[in-house]
Amino acid sequence: MHFETLSIHAGQPPDPATGAVMTPIYQTSTYVQDGVGRHRGYEYSRTGNPTRAALEACLAALEGGQYGLAFSSGMAATDAVLRLFSPGDHVVAGNDVYGGTYRLFERLLRPYGLDFSYVDATDMDQVKAALRPNTRLVWLETPTNPLLSICDIRGASEIAHSHPSQPLLAVDNTFATPYLQRPLELGADIAIHSTTKYLGGHSDVVGGAVVANDPALHQQLAFLQNAVGAVPGPMDCFLVLRGLKTLPLRMERHSANAEKIAEYLATHTRVARLIYPFHTSHPQIELARRQMHSGGGMISFVLRGGALAARRVAESTRLIALAESLGGVESLIEVPAAMTHASTVNSPLAVDPGLIRLSVGLEHVDDLIEDLERALA
Ligand SMILES: Cc1ncc(COP(=O)(O)O)c(C=O)c1O
Repeated sequence: MHFETLSIHAGQPPDPATGAVMTPIYQTSTYVQDGVGRHRGYEYSRTGNPTRAALEACLAALEGGQYGLAFSSGMAATDAVLRLFSPGDHVVAGNDVYGGTYRLFERLLRPYGLDFSYVDATDMDQVKAALRPNTRLVWLETPTNPLLSICDIRGASEIAHSHPSQPLLAVDNTFATPYLQRPLELGADIAIHSTTKYLGGHSDVVGGAVVANDPALHQQLAFLQNAVGAVPGPMDCFLVLRGLKTLPLRMERHSANAEKIAEYLATHTRVARLIYPFHTSHPQIELARRQMHSGGGMISFVLRGGALAARRVAESTRLIALAESLGGVESLIEVPAAMTHASTVNSPLAVDPGLIRLSVGLEHVDDLIEDLERALA
């Protein structure tokens, strides 16, 4: 079936008990058992819940994977993947990742005993050179947050899978979504999401997801999901399921709006540098076009005038809200160095303080451009 059909129906047959077209919110912590240890597939809602099961099946179908797992946040999903490894293991990660991911790696997992190397993952030679006999994981974001660099998923998969240490390749697919890019089909072992963003799509829920194909890997991750317990509640699963139904339509419009705004910003005298994966100025536009269906809804740009100018513009838009997060129907603006990526300040991953990140929403593009025009003036 096609993506549009799967996004509405995968994992969500009409409710067998009532015929309800929408998956019910099974707001229950436990399930009656027919005899001791004899249950109907569910025993306790940390372990499994029918609303969550529907979401997990839908996420797996959309990513073109066998198994989906839902988590209480994108960070919980990331944490579950990293818990697969033991002290002494090594991870190669891209040097432009979400600030919270960097914080988890450096402030919790390095003291625990994992070792991390950060490389420019747009350069596959750097990824290859960083692999060691104890490398167990290659962690990529593409497009990266916030610089929107593109990493070659197929290239990274070939490098990882031909290395003697056989590291897994995990791709944080939050920015692209499976509508624009499917990492598992390009050779990744794991796709990760903050479902808080485009998958939920309406800025009303925090969640995360992990999708994989290998049954043994899925078993380990499902064990961690239950043992650690960072699971989403049924209401949150319902909200993500509802968001997924319009994902293809929303992504088409996010991309169309962002393309027009990128064109507008590229020629603006106050803008020193525009970054958008499908803009002709992007150094990796060909790779972006190969592995993504369209450019997505995220734009980054650097203003002439540095940090002060960035702060003033971000505080001057009226329609575009000054807020962290991204991927909702409404447009958001932020200054990563002072907001989402504050945890990377004074680190090798520090972000240009003059950079602005824009999450282009679904408003009429002329209204968005008018708002930017006023703020830039
Ligand atoms: C690329 C990326 N990955 C992961 C996360 C973490 O997700 P959450 O905020 O749902 O924990 C974020 C959050 O902004 C993100 O942008």
